[in-house]
Amino acid sequence: MLPSTLPRLVLLTSITTSCINALKVDVTNADSIKQTAKTVATDLMNYYTGWHPGDNPGNLPPPYYWWEAGGMFGHMIDYWYYTGDDSWNDNVTQAISWQAGKEGTFMPSNQTQSEGNDDQVFWAFTAMDAAELNFRAPPKDYPSWVAMGQGAFQLMSERWDDTACGGGLRWQIFQWNAGYDYKNVASNGGFFQLAARLARYTGNDTYTHWAEKSWNWFSDSVLYDAQNYQIYDGTSDTNNCTTAGKTPWTYNYGIYLNGLAYLHSAVSWILLILALSSNLTLRDRQTGDDKWLPHIKGILNTLLQTFFPQKMGNKIFIEVNCEPFGNCDTDNYTFKGFTIRWLATIAQLVPEVADQIWPYIQASGAGAAGQCSGGADGTKCGFEWNTTTWDGTQGVGQQMSALAAINANMIKVGNLAPPHSLKSGGQSKTDPNAGSGGTNDNPVELIYTRKITTADKAGAGIITSMCLGFMLFGAYWLVATPE
Ligand SMILES: *[C@@H]1O[C@H](CO)[C@@H](O)[C@H](O)[C@H]1NC(C)=O
Ligand SMILES: *[C@@H]1O[C@H](CO)[C@@H](O)[C@H](O)[C@H]1NC(C)=O
Ligand SMILES: *[C@@H]1O[C@H](CO)[C@@H](O)[C@H](O)[C@H]1NC(C)=O
Ligand SMILES: *[C@@H]1O[C@H](CO)[C@@H](O)[C@H](O)[C@H]1NC(C)=O
Repeated sequence: MLPSTLPRLVLLTSITTSCINALKVDVTNADSIKQTAKTVATDLMNYYTGWHPGDNPGNLPPPYYWWEAGGMFGHMIDYWYYTGDDSWNDNVTQAISWQAGKEGTFMPSNQTQSEGNDDQVFWAFTAMDAAELNFRAPPKDYPSWVAMGQGAFQLMSERWDDTACGGGLRWQIFQWNAGYDYKNVASNGGFFQLAARLARYTGNDTYTHWAEKSWNWFSDSVLYDAQNYQIYDGTSDTNNCTTAGKTPWTYNYGIYLNGLAYLHSAVSWILLILALSSNLTLRDRQTGDDKWLPHIKGILNTLLQTFFPQKMGNKIFIEVNCEPFGNCDTDNYTFKGFTIRWLATIAQLVPEVADQIWPYIQASGAGAAGQCSGGADGTKCGFEWNTTTWDGTQGVGQQMSALAAINANMIKVGNLAPPHSLKSGGQSKTDPNAGSGGTNDNPVELIYTRKITTADKAGAGIITSMCLGFMLFGAYWLVATPE
């Protein structure tokens, strides 16, 4: 016996809905952004298990590395700041504090076996996000958010290594870990950005000096092509850092670019006092130093040309080294997310480049939402933002990258204030003595698990065709079948 029309209608509706309801966002409308961001954030936090009995706050389950969880909570702080939705703030506060530890250095004993400088710094970035956005304070017996950033910075600065390559930080903290020979951009750019953010937040010139020292080492090294403003991935002390691994990754550009933007908008207390006492008017932005601007503009141009290939006819972000080949690994899926978040901050801190940046964030936000039609609930985000056909992948990285791309548009729509510093209302109390303590994970640079993706794409295409066929058949079935 055939079902009657009404149940058929219900059945068809539920099937076709899960086929076609890719998320949509109007990136110029606050309500639309908030609504879409909430769906994406909900799916993101559904991956988080750190609050389950027997699990540890701040950890993600395998295959996600510890550092990625650190990055995720930063996205969730932004989510709260952009949307005002505090639904996850308890979990976020607990997670960051737990992993920072009472020493506030992000060197938890469960991770130090394998923790690298870049792992530590992504957690430190999240603590800085909390400080700069006046996220609610950590529990009483913990250091402040900015003190956590200072604590991680202190340990990293003690690891500055003059024994090879004229300086810089090693990827790994401990000699026994593979990659100890490698001086990579994620670690050195991370240290640079952290120093720059602390310089701007605290006004303490010690951080400015470290940022400059770190920049000088980097810009003199093979990691930076100052002619073409290209940023490479890493270099090894086995040949005294004379050759670089040149694979282009979005976040390697973003990590330096954001640090430069903070330095550009930082003004030291000394400069400020001089300016006030000599009755000079600082510009609104109170720019410390315009010497960074050529690098900012140059690196930004290279980033936009490299990772937003205009020949696609759009301004949508592409992780060019893996996305077109369908072989992005777990870590790679996160890179666009960090980078787009940093681009939005750069647009705030460096008004000279804001108009250039925004169209790319808008296009990417809309594109990212169009990738969120996967999984059982039909809202999981894939990674190929330049097509509205779900690419068949889902995971924490895809989810947080999409969240960042959608969410960042709130900065423009809501005309949100840039990150705070102490002199612009930052509430987080500094502690110059933070970080008398210790370091190490298994990140970032790596190894593709799969080679070819045409199969995935064909798979996603087949699902779409099946949906279409089913809808056509369904329409016929509804009206034409005899009872
Ligand atoms: C480290 O692991 C132990 C044992 O699972 C757990 O009790 C502790 O809370 C963990 N520490 C952190 C910071 O996650
Ligand atoms: C974390 O989130 C889960 C799920 O929403 C909730 O049950 C739990 O109480 C939260 N934990 C904290 C510390 O907020
Ligand atoms: C290694 O490189 C650094 C920085 O470029 C240089 O100062 C140093 O002399 C080099 N050492 C050797 C042994 O070539
Ligand atoms: C600046 O930071 C350094 C390094 O943490 C610290 O030793 C120094 O006391 C700080 N200066 C001020 C004025 O807070």
